[in-house]
Order: sequence, then C-alpha cells, then structure tokens
Amino acid sequence: DQYWLYGRPVEEPVRFDEEMDAWHICGHAEVLEALSRPDAFSSETIKLVPMGAEESYTEGDLLQTDPPDHGALRKLAARAFTPRVVADLEPRIDALARELLDAVDGQDEFDLMSALAYPLPVTVVTELLGIPASDRHLFERWMTGMVEEMGDLSLADSAEDQEATFGAAMDHMRRMLDYLRDHVAECRRAPRDDLLGGLIAAELNGRRLTDNHIVNFAKMLLIAGYLSTTMLIGNTVLALDHFPEVAARVRADRSLMPGLVEESLRYLSPVAATYRATAADIELGGKRLTPGKMVLVWFGAANRDARVFPDPMAFEPSRSPNPQLGFGRGIHFCLGAPLARMEGRIALGRLLDRFPEIRTDPDKPPAFMAAPDTTGVTSLPVRV
Ligand code: HEM
Repeated sequence: DQYWLYGRPVEEPVRFDEEMDAWHICGHAEVLEALSRPDAFSSETIKLVPMGAEESYTEGDLLQTDPPDHGALRKLAARAFTPRVVADLEPRIDALARELLDAVDGQDEFDLMSALAYPLPVTVVTELLGIPASDRHLFERWMTGMVEEMGDLSLADSAEDQEATFGAAMDHMRRMLDYLRDHVAECRRAPRDDLLGGLIAAELNGRRLTDNHIVNFAKMLLIAGYLSTTMLIGNTVLALDHFPEVAARVRADRSLMPGLVEESLRYLSPVAATYRATAADIELGGKRLTPGKMVLVWFGAANRDARVFPDPMAFEPSRSPNPQLGFGRGIHFCLGAPLARMEGRIALGRLLDRFPEIRTDPDKPPAFMAAPDTTGVTSLPVRV
C-alpha cells in the first residue's frame, strides 16, 4: 500500500514528523476516523500557536470552533446555504461566467486564472457578504497576498525570514479585518435582508452576536469559499489538458460534468490538508498520539489511497463510487459544497462551450501555489 504526501508515496498512513513536531494523517480510513472524533482532534488549533488576542481572531469562525459551540453557530450559518438559496444563485453565477468569458472572447490566448478562476468565486463570495463591487479587487489582493506569504513561510529557512513572511501575511489579514469591521458596522447602521443582516438579527445561545463574531465569520467565509473554488476551476482545466481523451468525452457528454468536478476534487484537492490539535490520548493507524500536538489531515493523500480508489492516478469522471474527501467530512464538512460544485460546473461548462479546443500554452508553463497545504495554480496561460 502506498499513501501520498505532497504527491510522494509514504509508507505509513499515520506518521510523526520530527522536524515539524506534528503528525501527518494520510490514509483514507484514518482521515475519516480523525474527522469523526472532534473530541480527540480539536479544530481550535490556535491554542497551539497563540497569537496574542487569540479569542478575538477565532470567535465566530466555524473552522476554529469545537462542539458544543460549533453546532449552534453552524446552524445559523447554514441558513445562508440552503438548497433553495444556492439554486437562486445559479442564474447570477451563469451570467457572471458568461460576462467574464465575453471579455476574453476573440483573443487567441489568455491567463485562465485572471480571466475566470479568480474573479468568479471572489465575486460570488463578496456578493454574499454584501461588499460593494468597487472594493472586490481589495479582497483579491489581500487573499492572494496572504496565501502567497503563507506558502513562502513553508520555504523560509531562517527564523528572521519566517518572522518577516508571517508578518507580511498578517498585514494582509489585518487590512482585511479592518475593512470587514467597517463593513459590519455599516450593516448594523443600515440593516439589510442578506447574510450579514441575518447574522446581525440572529441570536446564538440566547444572545446577539457581537461585531467581532460577525467579522470573523465573514473572514472565514472569504478564506473558505474563495481561493479553493479558484483552484478547483484551474486544476480541472489542468487535468483535462493532461488527459485529452477525458476532455473529449466531457465535450461530447455534458452529463459527465458533476463527475468531472468530483474527480477533480479527488485528483487535485484544492484544500490538500487541514489542521487539528490532539486533545486526548488516542490510538490511530497503530500509533499512539498524545494531547497538544499539531496534526495535518491530508485530504490530498487520502484521495489517492489505493485501498479506496482503484487505480488512483487515473483521472476518471465516471468513477463510482467516488468517496473523495476534498470537502472534508464530519461536523466541519464544507458548508459551501453545493455552491462550490455549482460554481465549478457552471464555470467549466461555459468555458468548454465557448472554447472547446482550449489547451494550456506549451510556451508558458503555469505557476503553482507555494503553500503545501493547497493544490492549485496562480497563473494558467491557455490557448483557445
Ligand atoms: C469547510 C473545502 C468552497 C464554505 C471546508 C472544509 C474543506 C473545504 C476541506 C473542511 C475543513 C476542516 O474540516 O478543517 C472546500 C473546497 C471548496 C470549498 C475544496 C471549493 C472547491 C466553499 C465555498 C464556501 C465554503 C464556496 C462558501 C462560500 C465553507 C465553510 C466551512 C468550510 C463555511 C466551515 C464549515 C464548518 O467548520 O462547520 N471547506 N470548500 N467552502 N467551507 Fe468549504
């Protein structure tokens, strides 16, 4: 059996990394087990890397909240992602995809990421948050800046380099939080009938949410919902380019589109890993884990586990079943999964309608994201 870490095989599904002082969980069964035990694998990883005023960064952030608080907050947030709400977004997303493709129609070559994969999801998520269109570019800059700096952090050798890179990432984060604080204050002054308006009016355990809760919630939605979807779009085009016979099948049979999105999430998982902190003595994959350690839960590795996916390196949109873990599993399962699937399906469908002969540019290689916990490209020059 082989398990995959950073795209390389590793022998053990659960392994301790001395250098990182952290556990890697790579097997499909072991990832599922870890995600089903939030009592032993806590999402409140901030406790392991205290950043001063830690409470203020994480209250309201579902991804950093354990039970029992997680359940009530998730219920509130889920109101904004009902099947009805998501279905109502379809025409808007379709119109957006067409508009973005109109802008490059007539060109022989362009960068797929800046033309479609960045602007579509950032527009959807900023519209959900009621952020004016004129400010959207700010979020594009802050979010990509943050991801780039965090990627560089994993490559920095010296402590000074690490500190400077982390500082730069935090600067982007602070600017984004300052903006969101003003935005939430504005929403309070002029109440509206949207996602943030709903949160402002809602009660959590009998009390109104504070501005800080709502700011952190908005921050989480931007972090969770934007670049992951950008990467899904880019990765799928990259995979189709690598497997032209699959591209030909999808062009001929659009009923393969939902399967294509699932297989893309499996084969090149945008969120390659998430983090947990051990909170109990627990045995997993034949190893004994003790409390207080960082854990990297590798969706990207589990998604290539040959015990679950026969011929894991084949890219097969009609793979069935396809229990891919690209959206996670358990209580933190991606709340935006139906929205992300729809965005992917529409963006890729419209792209293939418009440019059926699309190929990556052989003279201009794509640029890959540096962060090892994400799988994706930052630029993808294509010829159409
Ligand atoms: C959680 C992946 C798009 C909102 C997650 C998790 C994963 C994930 C792996 C679980 C993380 C963990 O357990 O630590 C993805 C991927 C996406 C995507 C691959 C795109 C292809 C979106 C979108 C939204 C969204 C479009 C909303 C606009 C959320 C939220 C959570 C979450 C709110 C936290 C849920 C919780 O903690 O209870 N996502 N996501 N995601 N995602 Fe997504």
